Amino acid sequence: MPHDHAVSRRSFLHHVARTGGAAAAFAALDALGCASLAWGEDLAYKGPPLLPGGLGKGKRVTILGAGVAGMTAAYQLAKAGFSCTVLEARHRPGGRSWTIRGGDRIDQADGPQQARWPKAPHLYMNPGPARISHHHRAVLGYCREFGVPLEIMMNDNRAAYLQDDRAFGGKPVQAKQVLGDGHGYFAEMLGKAVSTGQLEQELGKEDRERLLAAIAGFGDLQRDGRFRGTARSGYAVTPAPGTPHGTIRQPLPLAELLRADFWQFKAEFAEDFDQAGTMLQPVGGMDQFPMAFAKRVGHLIRYDTVVDEIRKTAAGARVVCHHGTGAKTTIDSDFVICTLPLTVLRGIPNDFAPDYQQAIAGVEYATSSKTAFYAPRRFWEQDDGIYGGLSWTTRDVTQILYPSHGIGKADGVLVGSYCFGVEPGDDMGRYPVAERIEKALAVGELFHPGYRAMVRGGINIAWPKVPYSLGAWAEWKPEQLDTVYKLLQQPDGPMVFAGEYLGYLSSWQEGAVLSAHRAVENIAARVRA
Ligand code: ALA
Repeated sequence: MPHDHAVSRRSFLHHVARTGGAAAAFAALDALGCASLAWGEDLAYKGPPLLPGGLGKGKRVTILGAGVAGMTAAYQLAKAGFSCTVLEARHRPGGRSWTIRGGDRIDQADGPQQARWPKAPHLYMNPGPARISHHHRAVLGYCREFGVPLEIMMNDNRAAYLQDDRAFGGKPVQAKQVLGDGHGYFAEMLGKAVSTGQLEQELGKEDRERLLAAIAGFGDLQRDGRFRGTARSGYAVTPAPGTPHGTIRQPLPLAELLRADFWQFKAEFAEDFDQAGTMLQPVGGMDQFPMAFAKRVGHLIRYDTVVDEIRKTAAGARVVCHHGTGAKTTIDSDFVICTLPLTVLRGIPNDFAPDYQQAIAGVEYATSSKTAFYAPRRFWEQDDGIYGGLSWTTRDVTQILYPSHGIGKADGVLVGSYCFGVEPGDDMGRYPVAERIEKALAVGELFHPGYRAMVRGGINIAWPKVPYSLGAWAEWKPEQLDTVYKLLQQPDGPMVFAGEYLGYLSSWQEGAVLSAHRAVENIAARVRA
């Protein structure tokens, strides 16, 4: 199957572009003196809604979905005296914020799978969210409030690899070489432009000298401004006692380095606003975050309860639902908070206004999927010195994520593929499970010869195939941000919307929490009025 690089990276480029937008907006604010050095005014988190204890007395809210957004809303509203009922189709809380451990069964539209690996605290994979940025202050605030222990999530690793079938004979190249040599060449060229006066107009003499020094540092250039290789890219002969100099690696040929599809976002991935260090993860699995909410609002959740209809009434809203194989029941309330993914919401008969129905129908969801393997030996650590981080390929598999948990243990579970696109090239789920796993094995073999024999128990979670999710996250088209996205920020009468898709960027738990806060504030304002 030919792989279309341009297509497969499109959706992630959207993310990067939007991220650039936020970062640029922040920089602009900062330049205007409107933002502190630490946080832009617009990005500042002012904490969860502070509602008076009795505000919700006598008011009922039905919350659809016990994921992160639904439970955040339930937690805050219940504290303010609202009577909340959370309807959850699964028999667990958390929604897409989910952790799979040894022995777990996974039900997907394309059949059940089982995680056939031992049970141990470090043997898990997060099929959904797997990282929390240091600036996701709403999520981090709840982790602090609830005592959810966090650890560092390595999102970048210079010992990991990048691979493109069209460059370097398809052989993986270490990230340290790609970045060390890439920066060296780019710096040399920029240095030439500066020192030969091509930027004379823009720069005074002193600035030019400072810039040349900065460029030399950036690229590890030699005194004459030339790049002749750098120890940053690693050694062909490693320094050792008695031979302290070693031999640095020959720089990769520039033309080949440019031909490889490393630069669009892969090599610079961890420069991204939401991906840059420090990244964090809850100790013991991402579900420790939703579980902490469930401890506090679990008594409000009706599990195994599927929503059949969402209706408007003269007094508020009515939700028709059924529990397991039971008969349909009706729940009347003053407000309904819809946190179901739009892919699910649009399939439920409802009384939303026509423009809302159209909006809900028109949002595309990412087809993201992840493969996990059990490895009795942590070969990536023991053989390659890779402790956490990502290896990248231009094939469908996109990346391997090495676990940041269980570092130094004998065995581990690694994510053997993580595709995050919206285009067919990224949709691993359209292949049978066995084929998805085979693709991941083939890529693993490229990075780690002998991989097939070193991993086992492969599972693949493809979000479009996961019941009650039917997709990974909303992929907003730029033109939808001023229309559909804006509309869904507003309630449709008693129906209020929240979820990852209404965050400042989709695909993050931070967005789920912040949008739930917004929904809570909206309801509070209406109750006050
Ligand atoms: N938020 C998603 C991730 O970090 C896209 O992979």
